[in-house]
Amino acid sequence: MVRAGAVKRATLVAGVLLAGCTGTQSALDPGGNQATTLLWLLGLMLWVCGAVYALVVGGLIWALWRSWRRKGAAIGGPTDARWERALPVAAGAIVIALTVLVTASFFADRALFATRGGPALEVRVTGHQWWWRIQYRDPAGGGWIETANELHLPQGRTVRLVLGAADVIHSFWVPNVAGKLDMIPGRTNVLDVTARKLGWYRGQCAEFCGTQHAHMALDVKVEPPEAFRAWLAAQAIAVVPPAGRGAAVFAGACGSCHTIRGSAAAGRAGPDLTHVAARRSLAAGTLATTRGNLQGWIAQPQAIKPGTSMPAVPLAPADADAVASYLMDLR
Ligand code: CUA
Repeated sequence: MVRAGAVKRATLVAGVLLAGCTGTQSALDPGGNQATTLLWLLGLMLWVCGAVYALVVGGLIWALWRSWRRKGAAIGGPTDARWERALPVAAGAIVIALTVLVTASFFADRALFATRGGPALEVRVTGHQWWWRIQYRDPAGGGWIETANELHLPQGRTVRLVLGAADVIHSFWVPNVAGKLDMIPGRTNVLDVTARKLGWYRGQCAEFCGTQHAHMALDVKVEPPEAFRAWLAAQAIAVVPPAGRGAAVFAGACGSCHTIRGSAAAGRAGPDLTHVAARRSLAAGTLATTRGNLQGWIAQPQAIKPGTSMPAVPLAPADADAVASYLMDLR
């Protein structure tokens, strides 16, 4: 009975520990070529370094046990010849282990950059305190289609992410897709990603960038190429020239910071909201996109994300309601 209980507990603990390895934000559950390469390298390093660690600790325990057994006896002398044989073996093992790791790193690096120079879909991602500006090259016009906080990737196609920052250093990291890369003001870094596994993933800014660094998340969707094309075509469309109270209030109160293409709102300081209701979350992964959350965010941004650049805009209840209705229609 006791044994059965212990097995059950051990299984439960192992299950909980292993569950931490999968999920939408895990480098141990790759959904793309680059993440797979990195996981392979991590596994190799773990095994080689684990073996070295086991040998060192084993040797230490053996030495301690030996000296404990011989307590009082003279140490040294006859073992010198053995050391002379053991040292070259140990040195050789170290050289071999390091050579294996260096060679593996070299080939992993080559694999990560193998797509450089080939045809790729270009997407600009710019880090802001605390959200992501995302711009896709328009396949029709050649201009840029802008969105925010939600990155769509076509399955199986290499996408070139051109990373920059508008204010401080951020770091782009979608662990299931690729390794992290810094976003530095005044500099451009390039990250090629080839996503393979369909689904939603979660990215997270990986460089401390201020009080709301933890609330700088990114929704990533890997979808079939045809679904991606349809999504991009929908993103390219400006809204029909809006009429009504919501549009008018928005243009006056919010339009100096936010753009809604096709309307009078053309601000550049905050995220483009042309298709905001089609996104999965609000405020860079902080809230699910629901009408209630949207209204709460407009009324109390500083309570939800203290320090955010978005001020609380005092609106009459009827106006706040109209703005929320207007935004929730922007799909
Ligand atoms: Cu942006 Cu941390």
